[in-house]
Amino acid sequence: MKLKDEKKIGIFDSGVGGLTVAREILKILPFEQIIYFGDTARCPYGPRSKKIVREFSLQNVNFLLSQNVKFIVVACNTSSALALDFLKKRFEIPMMGVIEPGAKGAVEATKNKKVGVIGTLGTISSGSYVKAIHKMDKKIIIYPLSCPLFVSLTEEGFINKKATYLIAEEYLKPLKKKRIDTLILGCTHYPLLKGVIRNAMKKSEGFPKDSSSIENVTLIDSAEKTALDVKRFLLEKDLLRKSDKEPSHKFFVSDQPDKFKKLGQRFLGKKIKRVELVDINKY
Ligand code: DGL
Repeated sequence: MKLKDEKKIGIFDSGVGGLTVAREILKILPFEQIIYFGDTARCPYGPRSKKIVREFSLQNVNFLLSQNVKFIVVACNTSSALALDFLKKRFEIPMMGVIEPGAKGAVEATKNKKVGVIGTLGTISSGSYVKAIHKMDKKIIIYPLSCPLFVSLTEEGFINKKATYLIAEEYLKPLKKKRIDTLILGCTHYPLLKGVIRNAMKKSEGFPKDSSSIENVTLIDSAEKTALDVKRFLLEKDLLRKSDKEPSHKFFVSDQPDKFKKLGQRFLGKKIKRVELVDINKY
């Protein structure tokens, strides 16, 4: 079989963030090939309505289907929250979002049954993580919180800055008070801020130092958990790539390919050779 005949894993996101999901997938499935679409022209999705996120997501899937994909990963938490069910009803191709894997990870990790979840406004107000967790365990108390500034801070490269730490501390204050032992990073960008978030959650100021200490908060990376589920699913369905020849990936965006190429390396953890422009309104 020629390389170009092999079906790839399609991944879409509102922009560059979904590369954190692609990165985790490639870490555990290094021979898989991906087709990535980042909707950079219409990013961010976080503050948008369900109707618009659904419309955009539908076009993104249509584009990926034109690229010979065998499976689609909705890497964007906002799209997963607002559009995954809608998409699954409309397309035959198997699809996976990032909410369920993250929720499952939290259910498995929590001991005191107090879980925090942070994400964009769209993800948090949809209640999707709460629903997904309660489907597995109704006893878990969930504290959802939107942290919209984290997206721009990450894209600005403000990863290890004092300002970011202060913002994280301010955002996460209410969660610290609730003595959660598990925190879901429910946004594509947040894995890059793991260090800052962990630190901000650690500071035990005004915090009782007895049982269920805040020092022990487990961060759940939805990207990591999704990659594990992708692997499991492809194995089960016998959809894994058979060849161990060097994989070739393709990256597409709806605007500013050069910006994506530069920024994307930080999210993917490796160089992106080429990024192609797509007129997403055609799909
Ligand atoms: N990709 C989005 C998410 O995971 C974050 C960026 C955006 O708001 O579009 O929810």
